[in-house]
Amino acid sequence: MENKMDKSYKRLIDGNRHFSMSKKIDDPEYFKKLSLGQRPDYLWIGCSDSRVPANEVTSTESGEMFVHRNIANLVVHTDMNLMSVLEYAIVHLEVKHVIVCGHYGCGGVRAAMGNNRFGIVDNWLRSIKDVYHEHEKELRQIADDDKRADRLTELNVIEQVRNLAKTSLVQDEWKKRPLHLHGWVYGINSGLITDLSIIHDGHEDIDQIYRYAV
Ligand code: CO
Repeated sequence: MENKMDKSYKRLIDGNRHFSMSKKIDDPEYFKKLSLGQRPDYLWIGCSDSRVPANEVTSTESGEMFVHRNIANLVVHTDMNLMSVLEYAIVHLEVKHVIVCGHYGCGGVRAAMGNNRFGIVDNWLRSIKDVYHEHEKELRQIADDDKRADRLTELNVIEQVRNLAKTSLVQDEWKKRPLHLHGWVYGINSGLITDLSIIHDGHEDIDQIYRYAV
């Protein structure tokens, strides 16, 4: 029987050999230094979308950013995966910044705007529908579907930053030190990040952070 297995994965192994070699040429101690531990200043909570690789779009190196990604960059309080990442990042690694980065053209946000069934993800995206309803008046005034999705993407990011601010983990950390929470949106078309909002230390009125939105 002819082996029809797709061989495209082999370029990943080849790419890895190239990566390892080029890093070692630049700095023979590169991996040795990394193996000693990590002390990143940033936690990135982004979308799983293949076009938004956290390190690549921020020109950061291995070791500089702790990363969690899920569909539509949601902060859900019952998500043990995210909560474990958040606790490790802010309590043990003591990151200074937590960034929620959404992106224009997000399929997850788009899916939440419609009524088509996609599967399990429909349940995951349910909370974006709540964001939509909360801002329905504003969103209804945007006739263009893409522009409305872009605005919902921004509102969703801000809502997730608010969700972060309300976690017991962040609230407890704020009693000890400043921890900056950021809401960003990445433009797939431009490669540029737009800074939407920031909460510095929990003394800001969380409900007022919509003011920062563009
Ligand atoms: Co997305």
